[in-house]
Amino acid sequence: MTVEKLAVYPGSFDPVTNGHLDLVRRATGIFQKVVVAVLRNIQKDCLFTVEERVELLRESVSGLPSVEVDAFDGLLVDYVRRKKARHILRGIRAVSDFEYEFQMALMNRRLAPDLETVFLMPREEYTYLSSRLVREVARLGGPVEGLVPPPVIRLLKERFRS
Ligand code: PNS
Repeated sequence: MTVEKLAVYPGSFDPVTNGHLDLVRRATGIFQKVVVAVLRNIQKDCLFTVEERVELLRESVSGLPSVEVDAFDGLLVDYVRRKKARHILRGIRAVSDFEYEFQMALMNRRLAPDLETVFLMPREEYTYLSSRLVREVARLGGPVEGLVPPPVIRLLKERFRS
């Protein structure tokens, strides 16, 4: 039974990986609704546009009715409040994630003490998996099957077709 109402799972998702999806699935067992929120980051050099990233996520979570995909800009805490959520969801894969996540969680707490960041761990087989490595492997022609969902494999193949 899900006990909490709504969580916002923010990120760049460039592109969404099976590790992200594992986290979303776990969150659906805790929260009644999960909003996956893609940051519109104009500074960051992204492989996929926000629209592409949102669409890839939508296709990948189509079997999960309690999951919504959206895009946001500005401060995360403002977006979370606009959605009337109280929980921010993030994944921790390894100790190396901890410092960055700790800083963000505490900054967000300073900005919005009423919000809580919740951390979940993905399956251990995804510990080494990151969007950055997926982009690099795909760019260099390596296989990404099993690391990202089928819609992402299709678009990566299109993007890097020689
Ligand atoms: O997947 P990422 O790139 O690690 O996600 C980072 C993200 C999107 C969660 C973070 O950059 C963010 O929340 N950006 C929004 C701007 C903001 O609120 N900054 C202050 C947070 S400490």
